[in-house]
Amino acid sequence: MRTVYLNGQLLAEDQASISVFDRGFLLGDGIYEVIPCYAGMLFRLTEHLVRLQNNLNAVQLVNPLTDQEWSLLLQDLLVKNGGGDQSLYLQVTRGVAVRDHAFPDNVKPTVFVMSHPSERIDPEILITGVKAVCLADNRWLNCHLKTISLLPNVLLRQQAVEQGAAEAILIRDGYVTEGAVSNVFVVKQGSIMTPPKGPYLLPGITRDLILELAAKHQLPHEEKALAQAIVEEADEIWLTSSTKEVLPVTQLNGRPVGDGKPGPMWRKMHRHYADYKASFR
Ligand code: PDD
Repeated sequence: MRTVYLNGQLLAEDQASISVFDRGFLLGDGIYEVIPCYAGMLFRLTEHLVRLQNNLNAVQLVNPLTDQEWSLLLQDLLVKNGGGDQSLYLQVTRGVAVRDHAFPDNVKPTVFVMSHPSERIDPEILITGVKAVCLADNRWLNCHLKTISLLPNVLLRQQAVEQGAAEAILIRDGYVTEGAVSNVFVVKQGSIMTPPKGPYLLPGITRDLILELAAKHQLPHEEKALAQAIVEEADEIWLTSSTKEVLPVTQLNGRPVGDGKPGPMWRKMHRHYADYKASFR
């Protein structure tokens, strides 16, 4: 039985309950983070807490905890759930009030945190790669905010899965934005490219780390607008996220990417990522 954190208490998961009038439950009114933990260490915690604060500010939610309080609470929960490699999920909602779209007065945010053993990435996937399909990005214009209002992402990811793909690569006005649950990188003639930050994509923590590692290891890289044709003619395509790290896409819209196998630049980056993780433990 896992332990969860809810509003100041560590509880067995079957003891934790929220009000049916919670605005997260009724309106999707909340912000979340997913933080990987390796050997019990929260990975890139500072970056996640900075993004959490930015997002709470953007939706006019007061951060219920200081960074120090978050850090202690998250570490405590990880230990309670056995340490090691876990994926930690936290969310802050605007709290419990009579259902009304407008903000309620003087309502305490609801704070929920859970963690579970990280899903091991199937080694087979690192050999075969994953499939992706391009889909129209029909989300709103605040995709840089990591909100719990995820129905658009859910529907897009489901559409990809129904087409036998692992991820949807989203296209807005002819340009790639990101995946339904990941950021997207393209390699063409030895250059690593990813769309620049903005309102159409999440500023992924993993995305930033990939760019840092590319710079550190002198791998040519740039943030640039990527037309759909660039992705469709890519030598390599990668997906990045806290849960998937960096995954090679070897089939796009039913056609092979490059030679249909994970590319040489991905192998280099995957090794740099693994080395960085190992140094972090
Ligand atoms: N998703 N873009 C979207 C829409 C995402 O949902 C995510 C992460 C990312 C990658 O962000 P990061 O590198 O900070 O994890 C990009 C998380 C893992 C999730 O919702 O489970």
